[in-house]
Amino acid sequence: MKERLQSIKQEAITEIEAADTQKSLQDVRVQFLGKKGKITEVLKGMGKLSKEERPVIGQLANEVRDEITASIEEKADLLEKQAIEEQLKAETIDVTLPGRPTHTGGPHILMKTIRDIEDLFIGMGYEVAEGPEVETDYYNFEALNLPKGHPARDMQDSFYITEELLMRTHTSPVQARTLNAHEGRGPVKIICPGKVYRRDTDDATHSHQFTQIEGLYVDEHITMSDLKGTLNVLAKHLFGEDREIRLRPSFFPFTEPSVEMDISCKVCNGDGCSVCKHTGWIEILGAGLVHPNVLEMAGFDSKKYTGFAFGMGPERIAMLKYGIEDIRHFYTNDVRFLKQFHQV
Ligand code: DAH
Repeated sequence: MKERLQSIKQEAITEIEAADTQKSLQDVRVQFLGKKGKITEVLKGMGKLSKEERPVIGQLANEVRDEITASIEEKADLLEKQAIEEQLKAETIDVTLPGRPTHTGGPHILMKTIRDIEDLFIGMGYEVAEGPEVETDYYNFEALNLPKGHPARDMQDSFYITEELLMRTHTSPVQARTLNAHEGRGPVKIICPGKVYRRDTDDATHSHQFTQIEGLYVDEHITMSDLKGTLNVLAKHLFGEDREIRLRPSFFPFTEPSVEMDISCKVCNGDGCSVCKHTGWIEILGAGLVHPNVLEMAGFDSKKYTGFAFGMGPERIAMLKYGIEDIRHFYTNDVRFLKQFHQV
């Protein structure tokens, strides 16, 4: 019996050592300590022993059972620790790995250009004014001294909704609306950004919908030199201190006199190149002194008040500034185009 118990113990220890999962360890437990296990078997056979032998073998059997139990428990602990360690190793996060990039959006380059110009004028005391994109014939044309029959009112050029309503063709109606709201009292000093619409066929330089920024300053004693000084600040802000401006006589029904402003060509420095069509100058905007008719129609006394106005296209400005060759890039929202301007 004694030998049998010793060999059971050896056998158990070998099997416990060999067990490498909780499952196989559990099998060992059943095999040796279970109801039909080897130790139980020995204990059952004790009846056959002599009185003297019984307590000795009984004690030995208990000792062997306790030892086996203890070493199974020890092994179970070890296996559990190993399992935890393996899991930790598998789930380890390498904090030194670079993160996955998140794609953030940014303001559209056209919006940035508009904001930049707005900010400049806000700094000079202008307020931002807005008007409707669906405009009346009166504000879009008539209040701006565009008489009936003027070519710009042609159905070819404008999106009419009814006889009297159209998609505004420029931001100039905001001038007339704001003047009206001031009821004949100056000063009026506004900058008006917004969308405008024309019946143009889209190509590299035309779009049926684009943006404009209008400026208007009406007060007593406003002269051409105020306009020139303001436009000079604008041109240098947009294109750099070394840019020069030139005012060319022009015609707009709502200004008299009217001018167009050119800036000196940055590409050739005035020598002439394809960007400036070999003139050394690039046209940027239209401007002039507000026509007395426009002031009077809005209830301003044109003997007391004078003013200047200007209108420009942010697309054109951005195209010149960043070398964008097709106006359609602004509206087709190709991310490869847009993201180039996130840092500017
Ligand atoms: N409204 C004109 C256009 O769309 C631009 C313009 C020219 C606006 C001269 C003005 C101005 O305020 O004075 O072509």
